[in-house]
Amino acid sequence: MHLSRFGQRFTQPSGIAELMEDLGRALASGHDTLMLGGGNPAHIPALEALFRAELAKLSEAPERFARVFGDYSPPQGEGGFIEALAGLLRHEYGWDLGPENIALTSGSQLSFFMLFNLFAGEGGEGTRKKILLPLSPEYIGYTDLCVEPYGILARRPLIDLCESGIDLCASGIGIDPCEDRRFKYRVSFEDLAIGEEIGAVCLSRPTNPSGNVISDLDLKRLAALARSHEVPLIVDGAYGPPFPNILFRDITPLWDDSMVLSLSLSKLGLPGVRTGIVIARPEIIAAVARMNAILALAPGGIGPAILCDLLGNGAIIRIAREIIQPYYAARLRDALGQLSLALEGLPYRVHEPEGAMFLWLWFPDLPISTRTLYARLKDRGVLVVPGEPFFSGLPRDSGKPHWRHTEECIRVHYAQPPRVVEQGFTVLGEELRRAYA
Ligand SMILES: Cc1ncc(COP(=O)(O)O)c(C=O)c1O
Repeated sequence: MHLSRFGQRFTQPSGIAELMEDLGRALASGHDTLMLGGGNPAHIPALEALFRAELAKLSEAPERFARVFGDYSPPQGEGGFIEALAGLLRHEYGWDLGPENIALTSGSQLSFFMLFNLFAGEGGEGTRKKILLPLSPEYIGYTDLCVEPYGILARRPLIDLCESGIDLCASGIGIDPCEDRRFKYRVSFEDLAIGEEIGAVCLSRPTNPSGNVISDLDLKRLAALARSHEVPLIVDGAYGPPFPNILFRDITPLWDDSMVLSLSLSKLGLPGVRTGIVIARPEIIAAVARMNAILALAPGGIGPAILCDLLGNGAIIRIAREIIQPYYAARLRDALGQLSLALEGLPYRVHEPEGAMFLWLWFPDLPISTRTLYARLKDRGVLVVPGEPFFSGLPRDSGKPHWRHTEECIRVHYAQPPRVVEQGFTVLGEELRRAYA
C-alpha cells in the first residue's frame, strides 16, 4: 500500500496507539490483567445510576429522543447544552462568555487535533509554527497530533524535592503529608522564551501523567506571557473543574478570551459518548465548528443530552464535589498506603498527587529502562505505562546533558479496585527489587 506523508504519519506506531491497544486487550481479557495502565475513568455506581436516570428520562420523551438520536447536531454542537454550560460558567466563576464562546467536538482528543493544527504547522512566509508545552512530562496523546512532525516543542521543568507532601489531610484525603517521599515539577520560566516559532502554548491542569496542578500564580504568569506574544494559552481541563473536578488542592479556575479551555465528558464517567468542549473567543469557536463540519459533520448529541439538565440546574457541580472528588480521594488514599507498603526500602519518589487519576512514580538511578520494567511487569500480568513517551518534544540539542529522569518514571492508574492496585504494587515491588539488586 502506498501511503501519503499524512498516511504514513498517522499510521506509524505511536505511544498513544500502544496505550489504547493495551487498554483494549486488557478490557477484553476480563480479569486476567492487573490494569494499572490506561486512562479509563472509574465506574462509580452512584454516578452510573444518575446517568441511567437521565437516559430513562430521554427515552420517555419521544420527541426529544427522536431529535437526539435521529438528527445531526449543528456543527458547533447542541444549542441547549451550550446555553446551559455558558450559564453555569457565568454563574459559578463569573466568566464573561456566552454560547458564541463554546463549541462541542467528538471528544477532546479531536479538539486537540483541531486546535494544534490551527496553530502549528506551515504559516505564511516560510514560518514553521509549533505548540509549546511549558512543562514536560505532558499528556502522551499530544505527541503525534500535529500534521507536521516538528509540531511539538517541550521544556524541562524544575524539580522540587519535597520531604513532606502537600497537606493532603487538608483536602480530606487524610494521608500524613510526611509519610511519603514526594517531588513536584514547576514551570521553569527562565527557559520559556516564546519566539516567532510558537503558535500556541498548551498544558494540562491537572496534568496527565504526573498529577501536577500548576499554581494559580504560575497559570496567570503563563497566560500573561502568551497574551503578550499574541498566542493562545490552551488549558486542558480534562480532569479539572467544573467537572469532573478530580482535584486535591484548592485552585481558582481561570479563563479569559486570550485562553482556550478544553473540557470533556470522558473523565466524568462518559468516555463512550465521545464529547469534548472548547471554550474560546468566537473566531476560534467558529473555526472549530467549521472543522467539525469537514471532519465529522457534527459532534455527537447523546452525551450533551444526558448531561444537559444536570448542567442547567447546576447539579453537576454538586455531583463533582460530592461524588466524584471523594471517590478518587478515597482511592488515592488507599493506593498511597499500599504503595508505601509494597515499595518499602526502595529508592522511589511520588509526584505530589494534586489531581487526575494517576500516580507518577520516579525511581532515581533505576538500572533498567522503564520500557524494560514495563515489559517485565506485562509478562507478569501487570500493566503500567512507561514514562519516556510523556517527555516528547524536548529538544535534544539544547546543550544540556541527557536527562536520565525521562527513563526513570512510570505512570500507574490508582483508581482501580483496591485489590487490583494492591496486587499490582506487590508485583511492581518485586520487579523493582530485582532491578535494583
Ligand atoms: C489530559 C488529557 N487530555 C485529553 C484527553 C482526551 O480525552 P477525550 O478525548 O476522551 O475527551 C485525555 C484522555 O486520557 C487526557 O488525559
